[in-house]
Amino acid sequence: MATSFPPVVPGRFQMLHGGDYNPEQWRHRPELLDEDARLMRRAGMTAASVGIFSWAALQPGPDSWDFAWLDAVFARLQAQGVGILLATPSAARPLWLAEDAEVRRMRSDGTREDPGGRHSFCATSPRWRAAVAEIDRRLAERYAGHPALLGWHISNEFGGAAENGRCHCPRCIAGFQGWLRRRFGDDLDALNRAWNSAFWSHSYQDWAQIRPCDRSNDGLMLAWQRWCSDLVLDVVRLEKAAIRSASAAPITTNMHGPMDFYDHGAVARELDFVSYDCYPDIDGSPRDAEAVAAASFYDGCMRGLAGGRPWLLMESCPSQPQYKPRMRLKRPGMHRALSLAHVAGGSDGVCYFQWRAGSNGHEKHHGAVLMQDAPTDTRVFREVAELGADLARLGGVVGAACPAPVGIVCDVHSTWARRVSGGFQGEPAPAELAMTHHRCFHERGIHADLVDADSDLTRFALVVVPGVALLRPGFAARIEAALAAGAQVLVDALSGWYDDEAAIVAGGRPGPLAGLLGLGASEEMDVLRTDERVALTVTGGWLPAGTHAIGHCDLMRLAGAEALASYAGEFYAGRPALTRHRHGAGTSWYLGCRLERPALAHLLARLADAAGIRPPLPEIPAGVVVRERIQPGRRYLFVLNPQPQAVQVGVGPGWSDALGEAAMPATLDLAGHQAQVLTRPA
Ligand code: GLA
Ligand code: ZN
Repeated sequence: MATSFPPVVPGRFQMLHGGDYNPEQWRHRPELLDEDARLMRRAGMTAASVGIFSWAALQPGPDSWDFAWLDAVFARLQAQGVGILLATPSAARPLWLAEDAEVRRMRSDGTREDPGGRHSFCATSPRWRAAVAEIDRRLAERYAGHPALLGWHISNEFGGAAENGRCHCPRCIAGFQGWLRRRFGDDLDALNRAWNSAFWSHSYQDWAQIRPCDRSNDGLMLAWQRWCSDLVLDVVRLEKAAIRSASAAPITTNMHGPMDFYDHGAVARELDFVSYDCYPDIDGSPRDAEAVAAASFYDGCMRGLAGGRPWLLMESCPSQPQYKPRMRLKRPGMHRALSLAHVAGGSDGVCYFQWRAGSNGHEKHHGAVLMQDAPTDTRVFREVAELGADLARLGGVVGAACPAPVGIVCDVHSTWARRVSGGFQGEPAPAELAMTHHRCFHERGIHADLVDADSDLTRFALVVVPGVALLRPGFAARIEAALAAGAQVLVDALSGWYDDEAAIVAGGRPGPLAGLLGLGASEEMDVLRTDERVALTVTGGWLPAGTHAIGHCDLMRLAGAEALASYAGEFYAGRPALTRHRHGAGTSWYLGCRLERPALAHLLARLADAAGIRPPLPEIPAGVVVRERIQPGRRYLFVLNPQPQAVQVGVGPGWSDALGEAAMPATLDLAGHQAQVLTRPA
C-alpha cells in the first residue's frame, strides 16, 4: 500500500481506536472483564493501553511477581481482535517500594513526598531505577513475542507532578552540579562569567556551592530547569533500554500540555512515534472556539515533534473530564467532531482515558466509555461505537501527510529563559505567542507545524519566529538555511534576546538575526499600557489601514531592510514597525510591535500568499475546522463543525463521502456538531 508515511505501528494500516484500560481494578469481577473484551469489539476498539498503574498488581512485594492476570488480559483481548499498547508502570510505585524514603521526591522545602499519589519519584534513586529497569525488562521478556502486542507506552505524562516532579534531594543536587561541570568543561570561571554571577556577589568558588535556590541568578535557574528536563530524558532512555533488551516493538510516551515541563523535542527523538493527551475546555459557550484552536495547536506540536509524520491521540475523554470546573456533557456528535479534528491534524487514531471508570479512587467521576458496572447501553457507548465504525472506514487515511507549508518556532528553552528572567513579563510568553500565530492559520484550514529551535526549517515555505527569546546554538544558521531555500521568514521583536545561558545577546538584540533581517541592533523597546495603542502608517497593504501597535513598540534601525509600516504616534513617530529584507532566495520580515489578531491574521495571510501557500478552501465559516490529509493519488478533506449552530461550507465539486462513497454536493449543509470526511483522487 502506497502511503505517505509508515503507520505508527508497523504494518497496521488501520486507525487505532482504544484507551487506557485498567483491568487490575476489576479482578474481583471476572464477568466484567469478559464483558470488557466483548464490548471493546462492539465499539470497534483496536488498541487498549494496559498496565499504566499496575505495578502493585504485577509485583506485590520485592520478590513476588504475578503476571497471570495480565496473561489472561492479553488472551481475552486478543480473542476479540484488540491489540495492546503495554505500559511500563513507572508513573506510580507500589507502597512497599515507596516505604524506602530515597525513592520519594524531595520537595524544594526539603520534605519528602508521602507514599501514595503518583509521579512522585526521585529519578536518580538507585533503588527506584533498578526496580523500574527490572519490571520493564520482565514485561518485555514476557510479552515481546505476543501477537497482541502493538507497542510500548513508557510511564505516564512525565512532569505531571507537583513542582513538575523536580527532586531537591542531595543526590539530585550533586547530579546537577556534575552536569554543570560537564557543561562548562570543569571551568568554574566560565560558569561564573556565563551567568554573570558577580551580580549581587553570588560568584561561586566551589561547584558544591551551586544549589538551585537562587532566583536572582537567571542562568542558574535556566540550568536547573534543563537538568530536570535531562533527567526525564534519562528515565526515558533507561526504560527504553530495558524494553529493547527484549522487544523491538515501537515505543512512545504520552505527552500533555502545556509542554513546558521538559524538552519534548529531545524526548521525541528517542521515540518511535509521539502521542498526546488532550482534554480541551469545552463548555458549550462561544469560548469553545478557543479550546478547539488550542487542541489544534497541540496537534501541530505533535506534527512538529514527529517531523510531519502521523502521531497518536493517546488520551481524550469520550464524555465529561473530571478536572474541569463545570463537568458539562459533550452534546451529541461533539465527541465525533472533536476526535476527527485530531485525525485531521495528523493523529492516526483516537484513544481515551479511560475504557471503564474505577469504582473508587480519585478519578471515579471522570467520564469514560463505560461507567463502573452501570448499564452499558448508553449514549456515550453508542457514540464511541459509531466513531469506531467511522475510524474503521478511514484506514486509507493511515500514514497520510498533513501538508504543512508553515513552521512556527515554539521552543521550550525560550519559555524557560523568559520565565526565569525579570523584565518585560507583561508581554505574552513564547507559547502564547505561538498559539496566537497558529490560530491565524488554523482558521484558514492551513496546517502549521510547531517546531523547536533545534529543528530543520528548510521544509517550510513560511517560517514564523514569535517570541523565540533564547537563541539556541545554530538557530541563526537554520533561519539562514530556510532563507537560502527561498522561504518567507517573519521574526518578532520578542525574539533574539538571549544567548544559550539566558545572558543578553552580544551586540544587542536581535543578535545574529540582525544581519539576516537587514537591521542594526534595536535601540529601545517601549511597553504600552493595556489601554494604550499606537497608530501605524502602512504601505503596500501588508497590514490593513487603521492598524495599531499594541503591547510593545521596538525602536529598530534599518541596515538594508525597507520599512512597510511605521509608527504614526509617540516620540518615535516615523520609526519602522514592520520591515522586509531580501536575503538569499528568501525574504525576511521583522515585526517590531504586537498586533491585534485581525491585523496579524491579515499580515500572515499576505505572507502565506507571498510564500505560494493555498488554503484548502477559499472561504471557511467562523468556527468550522477544515484540514486536508494527502496520500499518493488521494486527498481527504475534513470539514468539522464543533459548534451548536448549523453552517454551510462551500467545498467545490468532485468530492465524495470518505465514510460512505456517495458523491457530495459542492456546498455542504452541516448541522451543529456535525463532521464530514470527503475524498477524491489527487
Ligand atoms: C491524565 C492522565 C490519566 C488521567 C487523566 C484524567 O491525562 O494521564 O492517568 O489522570 O489525566 O484526565
Ligand atoms: Zn532526588
